[in-house]
Amino acid sequence: MDANRIERTAVIGGGLMGVGFAHILGQAGCQVRVVDVSDQLLERSMQRVKDSLGLFARHGLLAQDQVGPILSRITGTTSLQEATRDAQFVIEATVEELPLKQDVFEKLDRYSPPEAILATNTSSLKVGDIAQRVGRPERVVGSHFFYPHTVVPLVEVVYGPSTSDGVVETTAAFWKRCGKAPVICRKDVNGFIVNRIQAAIAREATSMVANGVASAGDVDRAIRLGMGVRLPLVGTLEQRDWGGLDIHYAAAQSVYPTLENATGPLPLLVEKISRGEIGAKAGKGFYDWTGKDVNALRLKKEERLLLLIKALKEIMPEDDDLVNNQ
Ligand SMILES: NC(=O)c1ccc[n+]([C@@H]2O[C@H](COP(=O)([O-])OP(=O)(O)OC[C@H]3O[C@@H](n4cnc5c(N)ncnc54)[C@H](O)[C@@H]3O)[C@@H](O)[C@H]2O)c1
Repeated sequence: MDANRIERTAVIGGGLMGVGFAHILGQAGCQVRVVDVSDQLLERSMQRVKDSLGLFARHGLLAQDQVGPILSRITGTTSLQEATRDAQFVIEATVEELPLKQDVFEKLDRYSPPEAILATNTSSLKVGDIAQRVGRPERVVGSHFFYPHTVVPLVEVVYGPSTSDGVVETTAAFWKRCGKAPVICRKDVNGFIVNRIQAAIAREATSMVANGVASAGDVDRAIRLGMGVRLPLVGTLEQRDWGGLDIHYAAAQSVYPTLENATGPLPLLVEKISRGEIGAKAGKGFYDWTGKDVNALRLKKEERLLLLIKALKEIMPEDDDLVNNQ
């Protein structure tokens, strides 16, 4: 299938991620049918899509007169059958529960055209498990995004054990057409690419706090203002090449043996969870959030991220990828 000919799409689940998919696909010129379990939820989804497009228009990422036509391409329904009967591309964004996703994919297999691509936005389940009851598992593919995905460019296109090369290629080309930056995860590994790396960083960061090496604030400052600032320009492996693999080898010998290598959640994390300190939504996590307007702070961060990515796009056009075309 030619990615440029994809016009009819469906989004299954109109929650946090589904709303963003409706925005992304509508902005790319596709017709979008959003499916959720009630009209009330669909109404909320449509309002959020409107807000999201409005934010883009306010920041000049979308012409104001485009908002109306985009919205007219997006409709909601509680009928998965109606939404997918002529869909060419389906992105599933229901809750992260395997039996539910398996059920949804069984229905997608039944109702959608045989040539449709069936993508899942799962963040932690295996693509192969989700496709277990699908008669055409070669057309099931992962498409893992990062919230706020209307702004964050990356999508990990993930092979299940049976996914065909053609489906992965078309999916990657389609997301590229939607303005996203695809990478291919060739194996159905837990956490795909990004979350594996994030987990390794989070484990070491938690360990340093637990062992009194640095405070949570200083660990985060070190990540944001030290390693973080250059990451959009130079990835970790490219950075090793610039520094020299001989230096990396020496660091590996002296630092690796001292790194955290626990194979499960660290005691500090277990303690926090048992005290109900599960993060911003509970008022306490690594930081104290009591008395803070968490929703307002979240919106402010998302808006700043949008401005940051806009600035990055200006200084780093796509063809300015110095070595990373390999
Ligand atoms: N939230 C994130 O930051 C994030 C990032 C990457 C991937 N993901 C993945 O995306 C998926 C969706 O996450 P979310 O944060 O949008 O969840 P969410 O809870 O905000 O939205 C899920 C939506 O699916 C709907 N739903 C449930 N059963 C359904 C069904 N049978 N048919 C249609 N709709 C149904 C729910 O009513 C809800 O509106 C999950 O698999 C999650 O792991 C989430």
